[in-house]
Amino acid sequence: DAADLGKGTYPFYMLKEVDEQPVVMHRLAEKYLDAKGNVVLPADLLDALKQADRLYIVAAGTSYHAGLVGKPLFEQLAGIPTEVVLGSEFGYHMPMLSKKPMFIFLSQSGETADSRQVLVKTKALGYPALTITNVGTSTLAREADFALELYAGPEIAVASTKAYTAQIGVEALVAKALGTAFNQPAAKQFDVAHQLALAADGQQALIDQKEHLHDLAKDMFATTRNAFFIGRGTDYFVSLEAALKLKEISYVQAEGFAAGELKHGTIALIEDNTPVVAFITDPVTAEHTRANGQEVQARGGKVLHIAAHDLAKDGDELVIGDIDPLLSPLVTIVAGQLLAYYTSYDRGYDVDKPRNLAKSVTVE
Ligand code: G6P
Repeated sequence: DAADLGKGTYPFYMLKEVDEQPVVMHRLAEKYLDAKGNVVLPADLLDALKQADRLYIVAAGTSYHAGLVGKPLFEQLAGIPTEVVLGSEFGYHMPMLSKKPMFIFLSQSGETADSRQVLVKTKALGYPALTITNVGTSTLAREADFALELYAGPEIAVASTKAYTAQIGVEALVAKALGTAFNQPAAKQFDVAHQLALAADGQQALIDQKEHLHDLAKDMFATTRNAFFIGRGTDYFVSLEAALKLKEISYVQAEGFAAGELKHGTIALIEDNTPVVAFITDPVTAEHTRANGQEVQARGGKVLHIAAHDLAKDGDELVIGDIDPLLSPLVTIVAGQLLAYYTSYDRGYDVDKPRNLAKSVTVE
């Protein structure tokens, strides 16, 4: 809508789009849930999903990172094996497929050529496809059998923010619908309407702490040339996205790592004051990830802890609001987005138009 078309008093679109995320969470609930809180999907789409023996999520860049968060959602809520693949790899080195695969294309723009070549190939093989996109009229939406929209409003900044959280929100809704259709107990217990509301609240709480996040960004990244983001499980997946945000717009060499893997090589790079951001929202592995942070600190590294409120310890720099651990990236990434934003801003870069990058890439 017209109100979305300017950046108003915001210095950059990216900050505006970060701020819009709580509204997008509520909008997804409005668009996809009925009055009783049931997810409403087209019947033929639900049938196609039910017939599949495996889901393949195909994406690139930030959308790939949203796909990774989708894997445990589909596996745990719907009980369906799910693979997440890069279009640029999968199309040319197709692995052995299951007997009845269904393809889910995640794409903010719906125009990414790397993903489209996979759609062309899987369609030729006769497999069904669903596109989840922010642009309902896009190529991937038109060419797939089914399309669902993100309803995030136009995303102008090259670095994707609200599309990532909207993609995870739609994955949660589809996983809930499929799990309910399969009578999965985990799906019945998963109150997706409540979780989207919690996500909006948790996001807003971080958005309301912008000054604190700006200070943390200065303290951690003002002059650094490299940075690491660590976590396990879903916290690992959000580490990949938080690192991508920082490198895209501030040109810091940032890497996301599975926290337990750091000690198998990469910890050699830790020097005095090397910044490491640790995501700690998974109750099963929280203590292990903390121990990995201590290993970094013992070698001079500087650790910023972003913890779930029920796992938080004194001294944690950021504590996030209540949310199911499967969906914690909906909240924790807002911290990653704002840390990246302020680092880029303070270094004087054009946050919305980073060098060498395009909003959508229509070449392979
Ligand atoms: C480009 C953008 C990224 C985006 C990727 C996938 O490289 O710069 O921000 O994540 O394409 O785009 P899509 O529109 O398919 O989500």
